[in-house]
Amino acid sequence: MDRIKIIGGVPLNGVIPISGAKNAALPLMIASLLTGERLTLKNVPNLADVNQLVRILRNHGVDLAVDGKRAGSGVLLGDTFHLTAREIVDTTAPYDMVSRMRASFWVLGPLIARMREARVSLPGGCAIGTRPVDMHLTGLKQLGAQIDIDSGYVVARAPNGLRGERITFPKVSVGATHQVLLAAALAKGETVIENAAREPEIGDVASCLRKMGVEIEGIGTSTLHIQGRDQLDGAIHTVLPDRIETGTFAFAVAAAGGDVLLKGTRYDLLSAAFEVLRETGAQVEEVSEGVRVTRNGEGIAPVTIETQPFPGFPTDLQAQMMALMARSSGTSVIRETIFENRFMHVQELARLGADIQLHGDTATIKGVEDLHGAQVMATDLRASVSLVIAGLMAEGETMINRVYHLDRGFEMLEEKLSCCGARIERVREE
Ligand code: EPZ
Repeated sequence: MDRIKIIGGVPLNGVIPISGAKNAALPLMIASLLTGERLTLKNVPNLADVNQLVRILRNHGVDLAVDGKRAGSGVLLGDTFHLTAREIVDTTAPYDMVSRMRASFWVLGPLIARMREARVSLPGGCAIGTRPVDMHLTGLKQLGAQIDIDSGYVVARAPNGLRGERITFPKVSVGATHQVLLAAALAKGETVIENAAREPEIGDVASCLRKMGVEIEGIGTSTLHIQGRDQLDGAIHTVLPDRIETGTFAFAVAAAGGDVLLKGTRYDLLSAAFEVLRETGAQVEEVSEGVRVTRNGEGIAPVTIETQPFPGFPTDLQAQMMALMARSSGTSVIRETIFENRFMHVQELARLGADIQLHGDTATIKGVEDLHGAQVMATDLRASVSLVIAGLMAEGETMINRVYHLDRGFEMLEEKLSCCGARIERVREE
């Protein structure tokens, strides 16, 4: 299994191109199930999760052609995917495919909406909490689907098709919002989603659905009005920049010191996290090409934060912020409000010398003067990259084991960091 070796203590200077967002690319690819016409997606990141979803979609009958290439020397153009689901040949999404990636469960809504039946394995994904799907199922039931659970599968039928309905989610869920939004695109009449997630990736999917002919109002707000159609058109859509990758590299610069342009990203995707980053003492500047992050010389100030749905501080950056706080000049408090078990990185950060106490959903981090390189284990995707950030700050060598989690969500991570001076390399093992 591959490992990543980092020699810490080197500042980052240069340009890092930001890839297309994993968490937008996945539901956008799934939207191809809604139409027999061609959906072209530009700026698709080359990630293990994207490749896994390709396998799942092909199993349903989606044809994929890829063009657009990355040049070498750190230039990143993203892939262009042409997805065509002329005919859905299989409405089952099997366990061995879906259990590896939670977002693949979102094929359920489009399959019932178009084929009036679907059999989809209950999902897997990062081990960060129990992660139920009750709101997905309630939402689809409200649109008229009959749903049973049989041997670990959700079996759904809608013999007369789906009908628009007013759905009020009891709490904000990104996945349940995607699921119902995608299904509502082919439902009869209007669907209203209240308390919808406002994450930019939802807005990106809604914008693409609009290009496919669905009328949607309220994009970017917590109430979405969706007028379903009998058939959808093809479309061409560019995946928005990855805000979590943006934040991760921004925190890495704050951690290691230096001056980096995060190219091709957008400040407004991450305003709350950038505000916090400023509190830590880093400079963050919106520039025409993206966002520039600088920290030269000064120490890292402690912060108090809690994770929130968008536009709040994202849970997907909680681990990375904790790594940064491990070397702050005081005591920081981080409360995780979205997932109940998203602290797997704490014990690994402790191996590098971090001083972190956990009480329920709250971590108290006493900044230490130095972290020291050690062997650590990647657990989930964002936890893994928090170890990279800690490794960049630590004295000596950090070896991160089990890095396949990183490959699920970070495109060319080592290349992007080493172009800016980091001493990081992948140690390949047969
Ligand atoms: C999405 O997961 C993201 N995944 C996650 O990113 C992200 O951490 C999360 O949203 C929150 O922003 C993708 O976009 C592929 P939720 P999702 O439904 O949709 C509870 C990453 O690292 N809930 O918004 O699974 C749930 O347990 C990943 O890229 C229910 O109770 O998250 C959680 O406490 C990890 N019932 C809360 O809602 C439901 O039916 C928010 O989860 C659904 C969710």
